[in-house]
Amino acid sequence: MKARRESTAHTAIVILGASGDLAKRKLLPALAALYTRGELDDSSIVLGSGRSAFTDEEFRTRAEGSSEFLSRLYYHQGIIGLKNRVKSLGSFKHIIVFFAIPPHAYANTAKKLADEGLTNDTTIIIEKPFGYDFDSAKGLNQKLTEHFQEEQVYRIDHYLAKEAVQNILVFRFANALFYPVWNSRYIESIQINAFEQIGIEERAQYFDRAGIIRDMVQNHLVQLLCLIAMEPPVNLGAEEIRSQKINVLKTLRLDSICKYQYEGYTQEKGVAIDSKTETYAEMKLFIDNFRWSGMPIYIRVGKALNRKGTEIGLRFKRLPKLLFNKSDQVEPNRIIFKIQPAEGIIVDIASKIPGLDFDITNTSMNFCYRDSFSEKVSDAYLKLLLDALKCDRTLFVSAEETELSWKKLASAFTEEVPKLYSPGTVPKPCLCADWINFEKYVNVC
Ligand code: BG6
Repeated sequence: MKARRESTAHTAIVILGASGDLAKRKLLPALAALYTRGELDDSSIVLGSGRSAFTDEEFRTRAEGSSEFLSRLYYHQGIIGLKNRVKSLGSFKHIIVFFAIPPHAYANTAKKLADEGLTNDTTIIIEKPFGYDFDSAKGLNQKLTEHFQEEQVYRIDHYLAKEAVQNILVFRFANALFYPVWNSRYIESIQINAFEQIGIEERAQYFDRAGIIRDMVQNHLVQLLCLIAMEPPVNLGAEEIRSQKINVLKTLRLDSICKYQYEGYTQEKGVAIDSKTETYAEMKLFIDNFRWSGMPIYIRVGKALNRKGTEIGLRFKRLPKLLFNKSDQVEPNRIIFKIQPAEGIIVDIASKIPGLDFDITNTSMNFCYRDSFSEKVSDAYLKLLLDALKCDRTLFVSAEETELSWKKLASAFTEEVPKLYSPGTVPKPCLCADWINFEKYVNVC
């Protein structure tokens, strides 16, 4: 299925791993919402599949939605016979198979689907992790393309579907104001913060092997960086956007890194007692191209920190001479993208303090989603499923992007003893002397 479809009609949506948590928490609610919005109609069905034995009726009790939506849900045990079951439920132009199953089963499951004859007019959707390093990612991509063409494989990065992430491209390419200064001549550094308050919860088995760099940087944060740094695309087609992101990845260079682990991590259930897995990292990178050469990019990312928040900050260079304050104390301009929780964009500027003197201070111009728009920011899966239904691959990650990203971060995956930090605190910066104080913007929106 290559061409973009305007209509989502006559689609069979198959969820593998339908009795699992992802299907219940995210996929079924997103599909119910698409049905309510009229994005899915009665010519389409949702067919759950899994190892457990359920009747259609039993499967329907796992979902919520209108009775019309629930009547479109069916269940089939296992993969054998899946194609015939789909056929028996109607005539479909497009089959979407969502792999809500553990990543180690992706390659084998793709083969089973192919053995079943479910490859034509089929799209498969998989979610990270795509491999563990460059070699395993390449191996997985090769295995998938033994049965499916790259155009049929949709790799989800749910960060790309976040409303405020999509707005990065609009901010950059629909506003003449910022276009001339978007380069290392004017910008001193790009800083990305991705903080979480939660620890590793019940995910020790996965996380202890992965660590925060594999979990968050290789995919989500590298994707954010690509959107901030890429050259203007010539159109908004998936291939064009991907190729601009790939150009960023080709010139990305990891310079240095500091790793940390929260105190008590090795006592978490399922974590190796001598684990060296990092739960927080600070990284310094460069993009060695014409636009960004010489300008550092800093990333701070971790779990068990003081708050949940993802922000991207652009810190502009200081002016050659500040005319007003006696004591050069005004911070240089900054643009802050508040990705979550409260979405917004803030432009920090210097202003005169009212009064008889000519003292100046930092003030900000704020755009907050909640003040400008009445619509609720929708769930990332809603957008991603709708795009998959329409065969729009713009927000999905290509094989080449994942492989390049692993390659460029390879030097981060060395075993070293991480420094410790107390849960609920943020380690002191170790690479960047001029951190943007993102805390300042937490309550702005
Ligand atoms: C996932 C990571 O991809 O993203 C998790 O595996 C992390 O460890 C999550 O908690 C964060 O997503 P969000 O949308 O809550 O920022």
